Amino acid sequence: MLYDTILARSFSKQEQKKLRYGVLIGFLLIAFIFCTVFMPHDLAPLPISNLQMSVDAGFEKLMIKDASISQHLERETKELKPICNFMEPRSDFCEITGDIRVHGNSSSVHIASLQSGFLVEKDSWNIRPYTRRAAPSAMNSVKNWSLSLVNARHNKIPHCDLHHSVPSILFSIGGFSGNHFHDFSDLLIPLFITSSHFNGEVQFLVTNYRPWWISKFRKVLEKLSKYEIIDIDKQESVDCYSSIIVGLKCHDKELRIDPSKSPTGLSMKDFKEFLRSTYSLKRTQAIELRDHSEDRTTRPRLMIISRRKTRTFTNLGIITEAAKILGYEVVVAEANLSTDLSKFAQIVNSCDVLMGVHGAGLTNMVFLPDNAILIQIIPLGQIDKVARIDFGEPTMDMNLSYLEYKISIKESTLVSQYPVDHEIIRNPLSVDKHGWNSVSSIYLNKQNVKLDVQRFRSTLSRAMELLHYQ
Ligand SMILES: *[C@@H]1O[C@H](CO)[C@@H](O)[C@H](O)[C@H]1NC(C)=O
Ligand SMILES: *[C@@H]1O[C@H](CO)[C@@H](O)[C@H](O)[C@H]1NC(C)=O
Ligand SMILES: *[C@@H]1O[C@H](CO)[C@@H](O)[C@H](O)[C@H]1NC(C)=O
Ligand SMILES: *[C@@H]1O[C@H](CO)[C@@H](O)[C@H](O)[C@H]1NC(C)=O
Repeated sequence: MLYDTILARSFSKQEQKKLRYGVLIGFLLIAFIFCTVFMPHDLAPLPISNLQMSVDAGFEKLMIKDASISQHLERETKELKPICNFMEPRSDFCEITGDIRVHGNSSSVHIASLQSGFLVEKDSWNIRPYTRRAAPSAMNSVKNWSLSLVNARHNKIPHCDLHHSVPSILFSIGGFSGNHFHDFSDLLIPLFITSSHFNGEVQFLVTNYRPWWISKFRKVLEKLSKYEIIDIDKQESVDCYSSIIVGLKCHDKELRIDPSKSPTGLSMKDFKEFLRSTYSLKRTQAIELRDHSEDRTTRPRLMIISRRKTRTFTNLGIITEAAKILGYEVVVAEANLSTDLSKFAQIVNSCDVLMGVHGAGLTNMVFLPDNAILIQIIPLGQIDKVARIDFGEPTMDMNLSYLEYKISIKESTLVSQYPVDHEIIRNPLSVDKHGWNSVSSIYLNKQNVKLDVQRFRSTLSRAMELLHYQ
């Protein structure tokens, strides 16, 4: 039975009792008045003051009882933990301690017994263990796991083939994995939030296993877990644990950790430190320039993220030259699935400014040293808000400065595909009305950027100024 309904019922019972008490007393009073007025005087009247006293005492007793009940309920609510949490904005997760038997091949978790302290509202649950609940296009590719309480009476308890002594976390690497932004926002940061306090003493059970994803992030995974990663869907044996978390915990902002949500105050600062230690990144601080006439040996490093297929810089050479003239040492890099993340993280960490057109490559800012700068170039289209939410706002918690450069119509290659007075060029808002798919198919997938270096120069200079601060 739902705890809420128990609570509601017990309160309404109290109120009903009060109501009945009141009606009863009213009736007694009327009866008493009737008696004293109409009855023969040989029937001894009840002393009125005594009646009053007993009524008061009754209410007082009721109130005390009420208070103690609510205190008791409060204590119970604090102690009892629901098995699954479906209340978080982005992800569902179930956290169970007891006798847990995982049968991977049938995507099921059998709970043979529960440790005390759990609030058992029902006996089965379904969960897709990925952190984009609101995005059906991600969730559709995520396995639907069933969790159920099983008991010996019904003879449904599967026999344990393997007993594991460490806790486990079961999560999916389906969904949007393979996109660098989603790899971090949907998987690595939530996994860090969910698992870092185990200090490696935890086993990962991965559903929708993708070998390339595991090998790309092997260092991170090995730092979080000392145990073999299990491709759980293939597992035909029954794996038994005394503790499991199904699904990943996740805070509602992109690429961010809310310190108020964890008992240890975990933050993005911890995540950055974790990455530094995982990839042996040396620099914790960006370069600090002293004055404008500094010697050329201490030039700040600018990394230009170059994209290959869409949102490409068509005049990379000219941009690079302009940046060099302003005093930057320029590094051009392209990150793709075959990139060795260890090496890439090293290069990013060696830079002070990271610039690129809006896109997943900007996620590499997680490897930048403190006080470095992210420059996001926003192409034509109604995408400023998304761009800010995905990459602008997360810089705050990462100790990075953020600069934004919205291109002008002239800087978009869309002008060579559509007439200048076309709705797509003139009024991106009108495309926005047709939904995100239209926006992304035009402005994200068909557009390249030819930066006007005269115009862009001030943004590069501003970044240089920021490196001079303090
Ligand atoms: C594993 O699951 C697949 C698909 O549900 C099924 O075809 C296969 O027989 C299962 N294997 C075992 C050993 O249960
Ligand atoms: C999982 O599958 C069950 C039916 O097997 C369905 O009722 C439930 O809605 C699904 N859950 C999710 C989260 O997709
Ligand atoms: C930000 O940088 C300062 C000094 O550069 C450092 O003391 C502080 O801990 C950093 N904060 C975070 C959240 O990384
Ligand atoms: C990935 O990027 C590298 C340069 O960093 C490039 O040499 C390689 O061809 C790219 N691979 C793909 C599949 O685009």
